[in-house]
Amino acid sequence: MTGPRVVLIGPMGAGKSTVARRLGELWGVPVRDTDEDIEAAEGRPISDIFVTDGEAYFRAKERDAVALALREHDGVLSLGGGAVLDADTRTRLAEHPVVFLEVGLAEAVKRVGLGTGRPLLLGNVRARVKALLDERTPIYRGAATYTVNTDQRGPAEVAAEITRLLES
Ligand code: S3P
Repeated sequence: MTGPRVVLIGPMGAGKSTVARRLGELWGVPVRDTDEDIEAAEGRPISDIFVTDGEAYFRAKERDAVALALREHDGVLSLGGGAVLDADTRTRLAEHPVVFLEVGLAEAVKRVGLGTGRPLLLGNVRARVKALLDERTPIYRGAATYTVNTDQRGPAEVAAEITRLLES
């Protein structure tokens, strides 16, 4: 199969970037993150893109960045938390092994801290994270081949479980 060995999806605070790095080390493959691709292409942080051009502009860039990465990246790919909201992206994901990194509300809030750099969390972080988890959990589940809960586990353990799942 061409394309990524695995695609990680899930909400902010699920540990996608950290687990992606672990998997990259474990498997000896490159790691790519579509948030970083967008920031590099735009030459500015995501928070600036949201403030200056709005969420719809960001989502259009995100759709293109995900499509490109799915075509040309053959290592571990981590997507921004909202990427799966796009129907075209979900159709493309159906062709790849996708792991939903699940996280509970308390743990997600702890991990995102003050929400710095995450424009969707401005205001009441806990309320915003709760609303996003409630709205998106069914979408993540629907798009995933496997779901791995990350609440009580560190990145190394999560990476080991993903490795087991993909080998089985
Ligand atoms: C978003 C998640 C962020 C980033 C943007 C929007 C979301 O990525 O793409 O701030 O809609 O959940 P992370 O999940 O990597 O923080």
